[in-house]
Amino acid sequence: MKSKKQKVETLRWRKGRLKMIDQRILPTRFRYLSYRDARGVAEGIRSMVVRGAPAIGVAAAYGVAVEALRLARRTRDHKKFGDGLKKGIRLLAKSRPTAVNLFWALARMERICKSQSNRDPGLLARRLIAEACEIHAEDIRINRSMGRHGARLLKSGMRVLTHCNAGALATAGHGTALGVIRSAVAQGKKIRVVADETRPFLQGARLTAWEMVQEGIPVTLITDNMAGHLMAQGKIDAVIVGADRVAANGDVANKIGTYMVAVLARRHGIPFYVACPVSTIDLATPRGSRIPIEQRDPAEVTGYGGIRWAAPGVRVENPAFDVTPARLVTALITEKGVLRRPGKRGILRLMGLSGRLFRN
Ligand code: MRU
Repeated sequence: MKSKKQKVETLRWRKGRLKMIDQRILPTRFRYLSYRDARGVAEGIRSMVVRGAPAIGVAAAYGVAVEALRLARRTRDHKKFGDGLKKGIRLLAKSRPTAVNLFWALARMERICKSQSNRDPGLLARRLIAEACEIHAEDIRINRSMGRHGARLLKSGMRVLTHCNAGALATAGHGTALGVIRSAVAQGKKIRVVADETRPFLQGARLTAWEMVQEGIPVTLITDNMAGHLMAQGKIDAVIVGADRVAANGDVANKIGTYMVAVLARRHGIPFYVACPVSTIDLATPRGSRIPIEQRDPAEVTGYGGIRWAAPGVRVENPAFDVTPARLVTALITEKGVLRRPGKRGILRLMGLSGRLFRN
């Protein structure tokens, strides 16, 4: 899966096993964890060993592949194999609810299981491994294409704020929001990144900052509550974030705090861009209010890394995502092009479902 320019390999397929960078311990430690069944992969997704919508989709596809391999080694009986695989897919589908790429990838793997259910389990397992590898490779190609389209929106000298981590670690490689920045930098543009810390899981401080430092792209870390102040001082020229699910009307679910940044950007006349693959657009969800929002463990809010700072007995809310209404989004950046002022009709055109395809 490794392309020449690929620096961070979030996921690896090696000798029938899935290996994933353990993102919970970055940047202080670096290690790969190894997986050989769907239960393990589902737990890896739930506990955020791997995170970020596209990376979750790729991990889920490999989750089906490792499960198929495990089952095929135990039985040649079609029914036992098929039932076992369905159980594994159900486990994976329960791991995280918001990132639609998870369900998109599982549906793609399930289509193969259904269309080839009479195949010998060993052969079907091989076909599923090939499909997972293709989803993996495809994600990198898509991100590079998204990067090329999005880079046109960035001028040299811009200071670009990003929230959470929508980088190589959140995808199979290159990244979505950070992919746009990487592509602009590769074209010789001088871009300075401002990374929101991203409470409570600190994806900005731990992961985005790490990725940018590794590549020598200038990055400044701020806490989430500093963004408005910097914007008011004229120190931010554009915002780019990723997405976990885009509803059919263009509303965007992304990491908690994104909505706050979008409101601030509008208040200060700063463009607010969302970079995501077309597989993150969910036409079955009509508007943002229908996107399921994951609630996570209160312990993520009351402390970090085993240290508790909140008063004992306090009630806690921990929604992992929020919804930014489409009207606050300047443009959606996808592998198919840039869609300005995203809305229902534009999204359908972008997806090639009506009218001509959108271009820059
Ligand atoms: O909870 P996480 O870390 O999985 O949330 C990730 C995000 O919100 C990203 O911005 C989103 O998945 C886009 S990643 C290319």
